[in-house]
Amino acid sequence: MMDKFTSRRNHVYLQDGVVYKQCQSQQAAAFEYNLLQRLESAGVPVPHVLSCENNTLCISYVQGELLLDAILREPDSIETEDLCKKMANWFALLYAACPGKSRGDVNCRNFIITRENIVGLDFEELPEGSPETDIGRLLAFILAYDPAYTPQRIVFAKALWQVFQLSEDTIQAAMQAEFEAMAQRRKGFSITLAEKAAQKVFEL
Ligand SMILES: Nc1ncnc2c1ncn2[C@@H]1O[C@H](COP(=O)(O)OP(=O)(O)O)[C@@H](O)[C@H]1O
Ligand SMILES: [Mg+2]
Repeated sequence: MMDKFTSRRNHVYLQDGVVYKQCQSQQAAAFEYNLLQRLESAGVPVPHVLSCENNTLCISYVQGELLLDAILREPDSIETEDLCKKMANWFALLYAACPGKSRGDVNCRNFIITRENIVGLDFEELPEGSPETDIGRLLAFILAYDPAYTPQRIVFAKALWQVFQLSEDTIQAAMQAEFEAMAQRRKGFSITLAEKAAQKVFEL
């Protein structure tokens, strides 16, 4: 049996209870393999990586729900609070383990919610950067997933912003930068609409 996961760049599938990630090059696979090992030993919740052969990683399957799916089913306030705490905790562990680094690819398919915590996936990069850039980008993603800018999504983004206790100005600048990147990637994306939604996050 083989289940294919949604992936933009790679070929990722579940076979016999193990995840295989076929990367774009041997170099990319080796990079992610080393990074996953490093993060795991530094105490950051990431999946255990089993092997790396040619351009394919073999990774332990993490049971849980994708952050994206959780957000799209509009969690209530109790679940939102729990999720936000788990996210804050995951990022705190990452920043403590890797000073000066940022998560980079913060899209909501890269986080799995397990019973106890959050597991971060997909480490093709670990760029220099600040928590503000990561969290601003994450909030931009959360707002813009289709159906975009729902009232519940704005409430969720606000709750998440509040647990991180980061300044409004820097977060807004990072959101703005991500909206501009989205406008490059997505046909018909309106920066004006996105900015209106972002404003509501801070006005609520
Ligand atoms: N260890 C894992 N356990 C469970 N699901 C996984 C695991 N690794 C990847 N996935 C699933 O595969 C998808 C794509 O994997 P990811 O590493 O994010 O590659 P991509 O670079 O293609 O986004 C993820 O969004 C997730 O749904
Ligand atoms: Mg991914």
